[in-house]
Amino acid sequence: MEHTELDKPETLDDLIKTLHKIFESDSVNVEEVQSIMESYESKPHEWMKYAKFDQYSSIHDHTDSHCFLKLLQGQLKETLFDWPDRKLQAGMKQKTQQVLLENQCAYINDSLGLHRVENVSHTETAVSLHLYSPPFQTCQTFDQRTGHRNSVKMTFWSKFGERTPYESSVSQENN
Ligand SMILES: [Fe+2]
Repeated sequence: MEHTELDKPETLDDLIKTLHKIFESDSVNVEEVQSIMESYESKPHEWMKYAKFDQYSSIHDHTDSHCFLKLLQGQLKETLFDWPDRKLQAGMKQKTQQVLLENQCAYINDSLGLHRVENVSHTETAVSLHLYSPPFQTCQTFDQRTGHRNSVKMTFWSKFGERTPYESSVSQENN
């Protein structure tokens, strides 16, 4: 396939338009997506209405999808884990840790392992933008001590900046 040079996105809307263009194709070039997401310089007024705050995620998988995670504000610590053995019921070992800085973009998929993402600062907020392809409806969360897994339904906390109706009976996960 012919490689075309993509312009640096000046706004969040530009970034989203460029990503839609990239994902029209069946093959995903991870480095290209990472680099285009990093080249957008975060501007709080562009994303503030979508920002909802939480301190950390559980350990989770990504249901065979690509996952890109870009830092719009602050820092997040990403901890990678190996998949736990289904029979052993043993604790999960940390593989690596990295601190993601503003405008950096990390990438993970199920073949690289599982991760947990957390804001370790008690004073600074952190905001991240996540891109998943293809979309998925459920994922699994893991107990670090036992390796036990739970299937959880993906839900939207909000859509287009508006809070979505609350569903009480399902366990939820924002990844
Ligand atoms: Fe994730």
